[in-house]
Amino acid sequence: MDFKIAVLAGDGIGPEISVQGVGVISAVCEKFGHKVSYKYAICGADAIDKVGDPFPEDTFQVCKEADAVLFSAVGDPRFDNDPTAKVRPEQGLLAMRKKLGLFANIRPVQTFKCLLHKSPLKDELVDGADFICIRELTGGMYFGEKYQDNDKAFDTNMYTRPEIERILKVGFEYAMKRNKHLTVVDKANVLASSRLWRQIAQEMAPEYPEVTTDYMYVDNASMRMIQEPKFFDVMVTENTFGDILTDEGSCISGSMGLLPSASTGESTPVFEPIHGSWPQAKGRNIANPLAQILSVAMLFEYFDCKEEGQLIRKAVDASLDANVRTPEIQIEGGAHYGTKEVGQWIVDYIRKA
Ligand code: IPM
Ligand code: MG
Repeated sequence: MDFKIAVLAGDGIGPEISVQGVGVISAVCEKFGHKVSYKYAICGADAIDKVGDPFPEDTFQVCKEADAVLFSAVGDPRFDNDPTAKVRPEQGLLAMRKKLGLFANIRPVQTFKCLLHKSPLKDELVDGADFICIRELTGGMYFGEKYQDNDKAFDTNMYTRPEIERILKVGFEYAMKRNKHLTVVDKANVLASSRLWRQIAQEMAPEYPEVTTDYMYVDNASMRMIQEPKFFDVMVTENTFGDILTDEGSCISGSMGLLPSASTGESTPVFEPIHGSWPQAKGRNIANPLAQILSVAMLFEYFDCKEEGQLIRKAVDASLDANVRTPEIQIEGGAHYGTKEVGQWIVDYIRKA
């Protein structure tokens, strides 16, 4: 294949992990005889500083013309505690999702045997947990009508039938490819928007007779996720619930630095770690590049390059087994490896494979 990749490194640790992701893409392409070219573009606080817009038109064009976007992170503490800021780095991410029509965010929650002890949950609960959260990404409160003055503010949680149908379809299809168990997460006991979700899910379920479909309130789902994560196979939910539940999901694995995601929809797909920009770690070479590297595995798998994806996953497992790990998951007394060293080790592994 001939891959045209848009690289959006963003803020904080973004640029450091981005380099490692690009290194892995290049190594895999070389190994499997694919051509690859990169176009770099700015976003987030970096782009606000440079051009005053967190997702400039030029960046949008670069994304639109690419086959895939490798995205890292946006966010900067300068904006976090300023509720009056007119423009925020996160708006760049939201604009990218909306403009590229990325309505389906696929967030796999995987565990690694050698890291079970890193999870705040008991080993026996975590061992073998493996599910996918499918988060609706371009609707709901994030994009609904908003209002804010000094005394009153609201965000509207609006969903239309086509928006709900297309994301539920993704959910049912993933369930068919996996263990045929779909959990629709909502708050139908309180929210009208959730009742429409549930109604449509119930209408669609008979089209997938092999799938066991269950319905769970989001409060209950958040509890079940830590009581019995192995209950879940595929979960599908709206934008805000998915945002919250996937941070919880990332804890199950033991480090936020491990979980990748893919955002897909109408235009160029985006592959990004689920963690943020971790500004405190910026430039310190301590950020875990694995979530970004596993996002690269998802990128190849999206284009049906299964062996490529598998090799990346094998390299990641091998690095963990060899204790080539960043500090937050390193074993006691283990050698020090930074972002660059872990990335380089994985690139070397791929080259030698
Ligand atoms: C995520 C992030 C974003 C979101 C932020 C950075 C806007 O938390 O991708 O989960 O809320 O969607
Ligand atoms: Mg989030």
